[in-house]
Order: sequence, then structure tokens, then C-alpha cells
Amino acid sequence: MLIKNSIDIRSSDITPKDLYLSRRKFLASVTVAGAAVMTGVGLRELASPSTVAEANAKIDNVQKSRFSTTEKITPYKDVTNYNNYYEFSTDKYGPAGLAKDFKTRPWTVTIDGLVKKKQVLDVDSIIKMATPEERIYRHRCVEGWSIVVPWIGLSLNELIKKAEPLGKAKFVQFTTIHDPKQMPGQKGTVLEWPYVEGLRMDEAMHPLALLCFGMYGEVLPNQDGAPLRIVVPWKYGFKSAKAIVKVSFKEEQPINTWNLAAPNEYGFYSNVNPNVDHPRWSQAKERRLGEFFKRPTLMFNGYGDQMASLYNGMDLRKNF
Ligand code: MTE
Repeated sequence: MLIKNSIDIRSSDITPKDLYLSRRKFLASVTVAGAAVMTGVGLRELASPSTVAEANAKIDNVQKSRFSTTEKITPYKDVTNYNNYYEFSTDKYGPAGLAKDFKTRPWTVTIDGLVKKKQVLDVDSIIKMATPEERIYRHRCVEGWSIVVPWIGLSLNELIKKAEPLGKAKFVQFTTIHDPKQMPGQKGTVLEWPYVEGLRMDEAMHPLALLCFGMYGEVLPNQDGAPLRIVVPWKYGFKSAKAIVKVSFKEEQPINTWNLAAPNEYGFYSNVNPNVDHPRWSQAKERRLGEFFKRPTLMFNGYGDQMASLYNGMDLRKNF
């Protein structure tokens, strides 16, 4: 985002990482399978998300979603090797390796602010709140690259309903983990830590907003936001905060990290909008990871039918 030329993705940038990833995936699956053999536990049982938080552990009983796109899914190796995760690195190829040993259990999420039921929840109890759904979403980064990912999660509104927000709660803020010992990027000041994001309550309650804990049939890899992130597909990628530890309900619009860092470049709403340029580049086109030619960017990232009515009467140039 603040990095010059980060928009230029060459396929040669991505290819050399394939080897590394397939090796890592192979080693992880061997570890899980090996443990199953040693203990006599069936692989399916071992791989249940409530008992294991290993990357590559399968998630069972996943339902298909009516919200899924039928577009071609971006290869796993691209989605897991080309990441924005500044807590680990500003180099997009950095998080895959640097987040390898990041501890995602035990993990709790604090629910506070304007709710009837303030509480601290274990992440595994959140995961079990509803049957997991696979949502194949387009995901568009503000920098001009995009991916299509089979995320796994549940509607964010399932968690919100459990918290019973008060009438005064107009916004939700997501706070992500602050742990400089584990996250080398947090030893620096490239952003203010922890990374925070926010949504208006009606956005957060919309069924498309996903509370995500998996992808490609498996538990989220650390570099993609394990153990819990949100995915907000009609907004630029930076709204989709990774490694969430707190969900707070507020009356006033909360701050969000990128708006704090560069208010003239990143707003609160950040709906994907090909008609509003970033001050330093056009937003009219995007490049799917792994593809060569650019394609036009769609209003609300192609989710206009579902989302446009939420912004009726709003000046989307002012509220970028
Ligand atoms: N969440 C945290 N905690 N830290 C980050 O740096 N980067 C954001 C978002 N969530 C970020 C984050 C940005 S800019 C993007 S584009 C997406 O994560 C990237 O998600 P992906 O790496 O899974 O594709």
C-alpha cells in the first residue's frame, strides 16, 4: 500500500515460491498423518477444527453457499504466498515464512462495548456457532491485484446476534492481535499497532460479511489471518482484518488503521469503486494473481446487486 510499484505482479515473482509451498504443505500433511498413526486417532477426528489448529487441517461438514461466485478459483499457492500482513512484513512474500510458527491457540476474542452480553469467547466456540459455509468470493486489494478464494466461515451476524448489541451501537470495530514477540513487523512503526478496522452495523450484519476461519477446505494458514479474520468482499482487501482478538460495538465511527496512516488515500468505507481513483493510481482495472492480462474492476467488486442499497443517497466519492 505504501510500497512503490507493489502493483506490478509478474508471474515470475510467484512461480519460484511454488516449490517452497508444496514442500511445506507436504511436510505439514505428513506431520498430521504421522500423528494419526502414532496415536491411533483417525485422521478425520484429528483434523477437526475444534481439536487442531494446524494449517492444512481439514474442516469437515462444510456447506456450499448461495453467495459463491462461479469464477475460476485462484491457485492456493498464490493466495498463500502473496500476502499483505504488515505485522510480519511489508514484503508480500514475507508472511508465508515469517508466520509459520505463529501461535493460534489458545486464542480468545473479547466482545465489548455497547452490547448486552459482554464476554470473552474461545475461538473454537465461535467456530462452532454455526455450520461452516464455503463462500467463494472475489477479493480485491486496493493495490490492483485480486484473487478468488473458497473461504470457510460463518456469517459475521451470527456472532453479533449472540452479543445482543444495544440500539445505540452503530458501528463494529475489530482489533487484531498485538504481539511484537511473534510479529516482527510490530517492532517497527510502519503502521500503528494493533491493526484495527471497522464496519457500520448494517454492513457487519449483512449476510455477505464473513467471519472466516478456513479456506480451500482447510484451517486458515497463518499468513492468511488464522485463527479468525473477517472477509468483506465488496470492499478493498484492507477492511478484511486478520487475527482478530476483539470485537467492540460503538456509537461513533471507529478509527481504522489505513485511514489513520494515510487519510487522503484510504477512507472508512473503502467500497470497491472503479470510478474513484486512488490518489496515486487508477482503480479501473485489476490483475488476478496468476493471470497476465488485467480485467476491469467491477463496482462493489461485482457485489452491487446485494450491496448497493446500503449506500443509497451516499456520495461515494466523498465516502471513499
Ligand atoms: N490484517 C492485518 N491484521 N494486518 C494486515 O496488514 N492487511 C490487509 C488485510 N488484513 C492486513 C490485514 C490487506 S491490505 C489485504 S489486501 C488483505 O488483508 C490481504 O489478505 P490476504 O493476504 O489473505 O490476501
